[in-house]
Amino acid sequence: MPLRRVPVDLIYVPFQDELADERAQVLVPVVCHRPLMALSRHIRYGDDSLNDYWPWAEAQGQIRDRKVHLDDWKRKYHQSYWSRCWSASTKPTVTYIDRDRLRLESGLEQTCLAKAADTRWMWVDMSAASASSWDQRSVEKLRHVVRETRRKEFYNPVLHDQYRRARIVRPDSIRIDRIRRLFGADGSGSRGLDIGCNMGYTSHMLQRHGVNMTGIDFDESHLSVARALDQTYGLGTPFVSGRFEQFDASEKFDIVVLLTVMYHALNVGQKEAIDMIKHIDRLDASVLVWESGSYAKREIELIRENSGLTTYLPLGSTQATGKDRELGVFVRPGTPLGESLAARYRRHLAAEFESISVMGSGLQSVHS
Ligand SMILES: C[S@@+](CC[C@H](N)C(=O)[O-])C[C@H]1O[C@@H](n2cnc3c(N)ncnc32)[C@H](O)[C@@H]1O
Repeated sequence: MPLRRVPVDLIYVPFQDELADERAQVLVPVVCHRPLMALSRHIRYGDDSLNDYWPWAEAQGQIRDRKVHLDDWKRKYHQSYWSRCWSASTKPTVTYIDRDRLRLESGLEQTCLAKAADTRWMWVDMSAASASSWDQRSVEKLRHVVRETRRKEFYNPVLHDQYRRARIVRPDSIRIDRIRRLFGADGSGSRGLDIGCNMGYTSHMLQRHGVNMTGIDFDESHLSVARALDQTYGLGTPFVSGRFEQFDASEKFDIVVLLTVMYHALNVGQKEAIDMIKHIDRLDASVLVWESGSYAKREIELIRENSGLTTYLPLGSTQATGKDRELGVFVRPGTPLGESLAARYRRHLAAEFESISVMGSGLQSVHS
Protein backbone atom coordinates (compact mmCIF):
# COMPACT_ATOMS: atom_id res chain seq x y z
CA MET A 1 0.00 0.00 0.00
CA PRO A 2 1.30 3.53 -0.72
CA LEU A 3 2.82 5.37 2.24
CA ARG A 4 2.03 9.03 2.81
CA ARG A 5 3.02 11.54 5.49
CA VAL A 6 -0.17 13.18 6.78
CA PRO A 7 -1.15 15.71 9.50
CA VAL A 8 -2.31 13.83 12.61
CA ASP A 9 -5.03 16.47 13.04
CA LEU A 10 -6.77 15.33 9.86
CA ILE A 11 -7.18 11.78 11.18
CA TYR A 12 -10.68 10.90 12.37
CA VAL A 13 -11.71 7.85 14.38
CA PRO A 14 -15.07 6.21 15.17
CA PHE A 15 -16.14 6.89 18.73
CA GLN A 16 -19.37 6.70 20.67
CA ASP A 17 -19.98 10.06 22.25
CA GLU A 18 -22.35 9.48 25.18
CA LEU A 19 -23.93 12.91 24.76
CA ALA A 20 -24.68 12.62 21.04
CA ASP A 21 -28.32 12.09 20.10
CA GLU A 22 -27.61 8.88 18.27
CA ARG A 23 -26.07 6.00 20.19
CA ALA A 24 -24.12 4.96 17.09
CA GLN A 25 -20.41 5.67 16.71
CA VAL A 26 -19.53 8.96 15.05
CA LEU A 27 -16.30 10.04 13.38
CA VAL A 28 -14.36 12.43 15.60
CA PRO A 29 -10.82 13.84 15.42
CA VAL A 30 -8.35 11.51 17.12
CA VAL A 31 -7.91 13.99 20.01
CA CYS A 32 -11.61 13.50 20.89
CA HIS A 33 -11.14 9.81 21.68
CA ARG A 34 -11.16 10.54 25.41
CA PRO A 35 -10.36 7.04 26.76
CA LEU A 36 -7.35 6.37 24.57
CA MET A 37 -6.07 9.94 24.81
CA ALA A 38 -6.26 9.63 28.62
CA LEU A 39 -4.29 6.37 28.48
CA SER A 40 -1.75 7.84 26.02
CA ARG A 41 -1.19 10.95 28.13
CA HIS A 42 -0.91 8.83 31.24
CA ILE A 43 1.75 6.64 29.65
CA ARG A 44 3.61 9.55 28.12
CA TYR A 45 3.49 12.04 30.99
CA GLY A 46 2.18 10.01 33.90
CA ASP A 47 -0.18 12.80 34.84
CA ASP A 48 -3.60 12.07 33.37
CA SER A 49 -6.29 10.32 35.35
CA LEU A 50 -7.45 7.01 33.86
CA ASN A 51 -11.07 7.51 34.96
CA ASP A 52 -12.12 7.89 31.34
CA TYR A 53 -10.10 4.87 30.23
CA TRP A 54 -11.02 1.96 32.51
CA PRO A 55 -14.80 1.85 31.90
CA TRP A 56 -14.25 2.08 28.13
CA ALA A 57 -11.50 -0.58 28.02
CA GLU A 58 -13.42 -2.89 30.34
CA ALA A 59 -16.52 -2.57 28.15
CA GLN A 60 -14.36 -3.67 25.19
CA GLY A 61 -13.45 -6.78 27.20
CA GLN A 62 -9.74 -5.97 26.98
CA ILE A 63 -8.76 -6.19 30.64
CA ARG A 64 -8.13 -9.04 33.03
CA ASP A 65 -5.78 -7.30 35.41
CA ARG A 66 -5.43 -3.49 35.36
CA LYS A 67 -1.81 -3.46 36.47
CA VAL A 68 -0.72 -6.09 33.94
CA HIS A 69 -2.67 -4.25 31.24
CA LEU A 70 -1.00 -0.93 32.03
CA ASP A 71 2.49 -2.46 32.22
CA ASP A 72 1.89 -4.05 28.84
CA TRP A 73 1.02 -0.67 27.37
CA LYS A 74 4.01 1.05 28.94
CA ARG A 75 6.33 -1.61 27.53
CA LYS A 76 4.79 -1.24 24.06
CA TYR A 77 5.15 2.52 24.24
CA HIS A 78 8.77 2.46 25.38
CA GLN A 79 9.68 -0.12 22.76
CA SER A 80 8.17 1.99 20.01
CA TYR A 81 9.68 5.16 21.49
CA TRP A 82 13.22 3.91 21.88
CA SER A 83 13.61 1.44 19.04
CA ARG A 84 10.92 2.86 16.76
CA CYS A 85 10.27 -0.78 15.86
CA TRP A 86 6.52 -0.56 16.37
CA SER A 87 6.12 2.57 14.27
CA ALA A 88 8.60 1.29 11.68
CA SER A 89 6.99 -2.10 11.11
CA THR A 90 3.26 -1.35 11.08
CA LYS A 91 1.86 1.97 10.03
CA PRO A 92 -1.70 3.06 10.76
CA THR A 93 -4.00 2.69 7.77
CA VAL A 94 -6.31 5.49 6.64
CA THR A 95 -8.85 6.18 3.92
CA TYR A 96 -9.18 9.67 2.45
CA ILE A 97 -12.86 10.61 2.81
CA ASP A 98 -15.09 13.67 2.39
CA ARG A 99 -14.36 17.11 3.88
CA ASP A 100 -10.60 16.55 3.56
CA ARG A 101 -10.57 14.00 6.38
CA LEU A 102 -8.68 10.75 6.84
CA ARG A 103 -10.64 7.93 8.41
CA LEU A 104 -8.48 5.65 10.55
CA GLU A 105 -8.92 1.98 9.62
CA SER A 106 -6.24 0.47 11.89
CA GLY A 107 -3.59 1.65 14.35
CA LEU A 108 -5.85 3.51 16.81
CA GLU A 109 -3.58 3.16 19.86
CA GLN A 110 -0.49 4.09 17.87
CA THR A 111 -2.19 7.22 16.50
CA CYS A 112 -3.43 8.30 19.95
CA LEU A 113 0.07 7.84 21.36
CA ALA A 114 1.47 9.95 18.52
CA LYS A 115 -1.09 12.69 19.22
CA ALA A 116 -0.32 12.61 22.95
CA ALA A 117 3.38 12.98 22.09
CA ASP A 118 2.45 16.10 20.05
CA THR A 119 3.48 14.48 16.78
CA ARG A 120 2.15 16.71 14.01
CA TRP A 121 2.85 14.56 10.93
CA MET A 122 2.93 10.80 10.69
CA TRP A 123 3.46 8.14 8.04
CA VAL A 124 0.39 6.12 7.21
CA ASP A 125 -0.61 3.45 4.70
CA MET A 126 -3.47 4.21 2.36
CA SER A 127 -5.06 2.45 -0.60
CA ALA A 128 -3.98 3.43 -4.11
CA ALA A 129 -7.34 5.18 -4.64
CA SER A 130 -6.97 7.22 -1.43
CA ALA A 131 -3.37 8.09 -2.23
CA SER A 132 -4.39 9.29 -5.66
CA SER A 133 -7.11 11.61 -4.21
CA TRP A 134 -4.72 12.77 -1.47
CA ASP A 135 -2.05 13.62 -4.05
CA GLN A 136 -4.55 15.77 -5.94
CA ARG A 137 -4.59 18.33 -3.11
CA SER A 138 -2.79 21.01 -5.07
CA VAL A 139 -1.00 24.03 -3.58
CA GLU A 140 -0.68 25.83 -6.95
CA LYS A 141 -3.01 28.68 -5.96
CA LEU A 142 -1.37 29.03 -2.54
CA ARG A 143 2.07 29.21 -4.16
CA HIS A 144 0.81 31.98 -6.43
CA VAL A 145 -0.64 33.96 -3.49
CA VAL A 146 2.55 33.55 -1.44
CA ARG A 147 4.65 34.77 -4.39
CA GLU A 148 2.38 37.74 -5.16
CA THR A 149 2.14 38.93 -1.56
CA ARG A 150 5.79 38.04 -0.71
CA ARG A 151 4.57 36.21 2.34
CA LYS A 152 7.34 34.92 4.63
CA GLU A 153 5.25 33.16 7.28
CA PHE A 154 1.77 31.91 8.11
CA TYR A 155 -0.23 32.53 11.26
CA ASN A 156 -1.32 28.86 11.57
CA PRO A 157 -0.09 25.54 10.15
CA VAL A 158 -0.69 24.70 6.50
CA LEU A 159 -1.88 21.09 6.33
CA HIS A 160 0.01 20.14 3.18
CA ASP A 161 3.31 18.25 3.06
CA GLN A 162 4.95 20.88 0.86
CA TYR A 163 4.44 23.54 3.56
CA ARG A 164 5.34 21.29 6.49
CA ARG A 165 8.46 23.30 7.24
CA ALA A 166 6.97 26.76 6.65
CA ARG A 167 7.44 29.41 9.35
CA ILE A 168 4.31 29.49 11.52
CA VAL A 169 3.46 32.12 14.16
CA ARG A 170 1.22 29.73 16.15
CA PRO A 171 2.36 26.21 15.23
CA ASP A 172 0.73 24.29 18.10
CA SER A 173 -2.73 22.79 17.92
CA ILE A 174 -3.62 23.46 21.57
CA ARG A 175 -6.56 25.72 20.78
CA ILE A 176 -8.14 23.56 18.12
CA ASP A 177 -7.59 20.43 20.24
CA ARG A 178 -9.43 21.93 23.18
CA ILE A 179 -12.23 23.29 21.01
CA ARG A 180 -12.68 19.95 19.24
CA ARG A 181 -12.65 18.07 22.55
CA LEU A 182 -15.41 20.33 23.83
CA PHE A 183 -17.52 19.93 20.68
CA GLY A 184 -17.11 16.15 20.47
CA ALA A 185 -19.89 14.93 18.19
CA ASP A 186 -21.84 18.22 18.47
CA GLY A 187 -22.07 21.10 16.01
CA SER A 188 -22.49 19.18 12.77
CA GLY A 189 -25.09 20.84 10.55
CA SER A 190 -25.00 24.14 12.43
CA ARG A 191 -23.89 27.51 11.03
CA GLY A 192 -20.67 29.18 12.18
CA LEU A 193 -19.04 32.58 11.72
CA ASP A 194 -15.28 32.99 12.33
CA ILE A 195 -14.65 36.70 13.03
CA GLY A 196 -11.06 37.76 12.26
CA CYS A 197 -10.53 34.39 10.57
CA ASN A 198 -7.07 35.33 9.20
CA MET A 199 -5.88 32.39 7.03
CA GLY A 200 -9.02 30.41 7.89
CA TYR A 201 -7.43 27.73 10.09
CA THR A 202 -10.32 27.48 12.58
CA SER A 203 -12.93 27.94 9.84
CA HIS A 204 -11.43 25.04 7.88
CA MET A 205 -11.19 22.81 10.97
CA LEU A 206 -14.81 23.45 11.99
CA GLN A 207 -15.93 22.99 8.39
CA ARG A 208 -14.36 19.51 8.57
CA HIS A 209 -16.29 19.04 11.81
CA GLY A 210 -19.51 19.52 9.80
CA VAL A 211 -20.21 23.13 10.81
CA ASN A 212 -21.19 25.31 7.81
CA MET A 213 -18.59 28.00 8.36
CA THR A 214 -18.17 31.52 7.01
CA GLY A 215 -14.96 33.43 7.68
CA ILE A 216 -14.68 37.23 7.82
CA ASP A 217 -11.56 39.40 8.00
CA PHE A 218 -10.74 42.91 6.83
CA ASP A 219 -7.22 41.94 5.75
CA GLU A 220 -7.37 40.89 2.10
CA SER A 221 -3.86 39.37 2.14
CA HIS A 222 -4.87 36.92 4.88
CA LEU A 223 -8.13 36.12 3.09
CA SER A 224 -6.31 35.30 -0.14
CA VAL A 225 -4.41 32.58 1.81
CA ALA A 226 -7.68 31.37 3.40
CA ARG A 227 -9.30 31.03 -0.05
CA ALA A 228 -6.25 29.37 -1.64
CA LEU A 229 -6.07 26.85 1.20
CA ASP A 230 -9.78 26.22 0.95
CA GLN A 231 -9.17 25.21 -2.66
CA THR A 232 -6.31 22.89 -1.58
CA TYR A 233 -8.54 21.24 1.00
CA GLY A 234 -11.66 21.28 -1.24
CA LEU A 235 -13.91 22.47 1.59
CA GLY A 236 -16.04 25.20 -0.05
CA THR A 237 -15.90 27.63 2.88
CA PRO A 238 -17.06 31.18 1.98
CA PHE A 239 -14.74 34.01 3.12
CA VAL A 240 -16.07 37.57 3.37
CA SER A 241 -13.83 40.60 3.14
CA GLY A 242 -14.68 43.46 5.52
CA ARG A 243 -15.02 44.70 9.07
CA PHE A 244 -17.27 42.59 11.26
CA GLU A 245 -18.94 45.76 12.55
CA GLN A 246 -20.40 46.22 9.03
CA PHE A 247 -21.49 42.58 8.68
CA ASP A 248 -25.22 42.09 8.05
CA ALA A 249 -26.49 40.85 11.42
CA SER A 250 -29.82 39.69 9.99
CA GLU A 251 -27.92 36.52 9.04
CA LYS A 252 -28.11 34.11 11.99
CA PHE A 253 -25.40 31.76 13.24
CA ASP A 254 -25.30 29.01 15.89
CA ILE A 255 -21.57 29.29 16.61
CA VAL A 256 -19.42 32.44 16.56
CA VAL A 257 -15.62 32.21 16.77
CA LEU A 258 -13.66 35.20 18.10
CA LEU A 259 -10.05 34.17 18.69
CA THR A 260 -7.66 37.01 19.67
CA VAL A 261 -9.76 39.61 17.89
CA MET A 262 -11.66 41.54 20.56
CA TYR A 263 -8.50 43.21 21.85
CA HIS A 264 -8.28 45.08 18.50
CA ALA A 265 -11.56 46.83 19.40
CA LEU A 266 -10.61 47.15 23.08
CA ASN A 267 -7.37 48.91 22.08
CA VAL A 268 -9.50 51.59 20.38
CA GLY A 269 -11.80 51.91 23.40
CA GLN A 270 -14.35 50.23 25.67
CA LYS A 271 -17.26 51.58 23.62
CA GLU A 272 -15.88 49.95 20.44
CA ALA A 273 -15.50 46.62 22.25
CA ILE A 274 -19.07 46.81 23.60
CA ASP A 275 -20.38 47.69 20.11
CA MET A 276 -18.60 44.59 18.76
CA ILE A 277 -20.15 42.36 21.47
CA LYS A 278 -23.64 43.78 20.88
CA HIS A 279 -23.25 43.15 17.16
CA ILE A 280 -22.22 39.54 17.92
CA ASP A 281 -25.28 39.20 20.17
CA ARG A 282 -27.55 40.15 17.25
CA LEU A 283 -26.42 36.99 15.43
CA ASP A 284 -28.34 34.99 18.12
CA ALA A 285 -25.53 32.40 18.42
CA SER A 286 -25.82 29.66 21.05
CA VAL A 287 -22.05 29.51 21.50
CA LEU A 288 -19.15 31.96 21.31
CA VAL A 289 -15.68 30.38 21.07
CA TRP A 290 -13.26 33.02 22.31
CA GLU A 291 -9.62 33.71 23.02
CA SER A 292 -8.51 36.84 24.82
CA GLY A 293 -5.87 39.44 24.22
CA SER A 294 -3.83 40.43 27.28
CA TYR A 295 -6.84 41.39 29.43
CA ALA A 296 -8.82 38.16 29.69
CA LYS A 297 -10.85 39.05 32.75
CA ARG A 298 -11.97 42.38 31.30
CA GLU A 299 -13.07 40.76 28.02
CA ILE A 300 -14.99 38.06 29.93
CA GLU A 301 -16.85 40.64 32.00
CA LEU A 302 -17.70 42.77 28.97
CA ILE A 303 -19.04 39.78 27.00
CA ARG A 304 -21.18 38.51 29.87
CA GLU A 305 -22.55 41.95 30.71
CA ASN A 306 -23.38 42.97 27.13
CA SER A 307 -24.78 39.79 25.58
CA GLY A 308 -27.02 36.82 26.30
CA LEU A 309 -23.90 34.59 26.27
CA THR A 310 -23.70 34.47 30.03
CA THR A 311 -22.37 30.98 30.87
CA TYR A 312 -18.59 30.79 30.64
CA LEU A 313 -16.60 27.55 30.26
CA PRO A 314 -12.84 28.19 30.57
CA LEU A 315 -10.69 26.02 28.28
CA GLY A 316 -7.39 26.99 29.89
CA SER A 317 -4.61 29.45 29.30
CA THR A 318 -2.76 29.81 26.03
CA GLN A 319 0.19 31.83 24.82
CA ALA A 320 0.80 33.74 21.62
CA THR A 321 3.22 36.41 20.46
CA GLY A 322 4.81 36.41 23.92
CA LYS A 323 1.55 37.12 25.74
CA ASP A 324 -0.58 35.02 28.09
CA ARG A 325 -4.13 34.59 26.85
CA GLU A 326 -7.22 32.67 27.88
CA LEU A 327 -9.33 30.35 25.76
CA GLY A 328 -12.96 29.74 26.61
CA VAL A 329 -16.49 29.26 25.39
CA PHE A 330 -19.55 31.38 26.22
CA VAL A 331 -22.92 29.70 26.09
CA ARG A 332 -26.41 31.16 25.74
CA PRO A 333 -28.38 29.32 28.44
CA GLY A 334 -31.38 27.33 27.26
CA THR A 335 -30.06 26.65 23.76
CA PRO A 336 -29.73 22.92 22.88
CA LEU A 337 -26.19 23.21 21.46
CA GLY A 338 -25.02 25.37 24.38
CA GLU A 339 -26.53 23.04 26.97
CA SER A 340 -25.01 19.98 25.30
CA LEU A 341 -21.52 21.56 25.34
CA ALA A 342 -21.94 22.60 28.97
CA ALA A 343 -23.01 19.04 29.86
CA ARG A 344 -19.98 17.52 28.11
CA TYR A 345 -17.77 20.07 29.83
CA ARG A 346 -19.10 19.30 33.31
CA ARG A 347 -19.08 15.56 32.80
CA HIS A 348 -15.70 15.04 31.16
CA LEU A 349 -13.60 18.16 30.77
CA ALA A 350 -13.96 20.56 33.71
CA ALA A 351 -11.19 18.97 35.80
CA GLU A 352 -8.81 18.79 32.84
CA PHE A 353 -9.31 22.44 31.90
CA GLU A 354 -9.30 23.70 35.47
CA SER A 355 -5.84 22.23 35.95
CA ILE A 356 -4.45 24.13 32.96
CA SER A 357 -6.25 27.40 33.57
CA VAL A 358 -3.47 29.37 35.19
CA MET A 359 -4.40 32.87 34.14
CA GLY A 360 -5.56 33.57 37.66
CA SER A 361 -8.69 35.30 36.47
CA GLY A 362 -10.31 34.15 39.71
CA LEU A 363 -13.15 32.45 37.84
CA GLN A 364 -14.84 29.22 38.81
CA SER A 365 -15.10 26.51 36.19
CA VAL A 366 -18.63 27.29 35.06
CA HIS A 367 -20.54 30.54 35.48
CA SER A 368 -24.23 30.65 34.91
C1 LIG B 1 -4.41 38.09 15.96
S1 LIG B 1 -5.23 37.64 14.50
C2 LIG B 1 -6.11 36.21 15.00
C3 LIG B 1 -6.45 35.31 13.86
C4 LIG B 1 -7.32 34.11 14.17
N1 LIG B 1 -8.57 34.53 14.77
C5 LIG B 1 -6.61 33.15 15.10
O1 LIG B 1 -6.65 33.37 16.33
O2 LIG B 1 -6.01 32.17 14.64
C6 LIG B 1 -6.53 38.85 14.44
C7 LIG B 1 -7.26 38.84 13.10
O3 LIG B 1 -8.46 39.57 13.24
C8 LIG B 1 -8.64 40.44 12.12
N2 LIG B 1 -9.56 41.50 12.63
C9 LIG B 1 -9.36 42.30 13.70
N3 LIG B 1 -10.42 43.12 13.91
C10 LIG B 1 -11.34 42.79 12.96
C11 LIG B 1 -12.64 43.28 12.65
N4 LIG B 1 -13.20 44.26 13.36
N5 LIG B 1 -13.31 42.73 11.59
C12 LIG B 1 -12.72 41.76 10.85
N6 LIG B 1 -11.49 41.27 11.09
C13 LIG B 1 -10.79 41.77 12.14
C14 LIG B 1 -7.22 40.83 11.74
O4 LIG B 1 -7.12 41.24 10.39
C15 LIG B 1 -6.47 39.52 11.99
O5 LIG B 1 -6.46 38.69 10.86
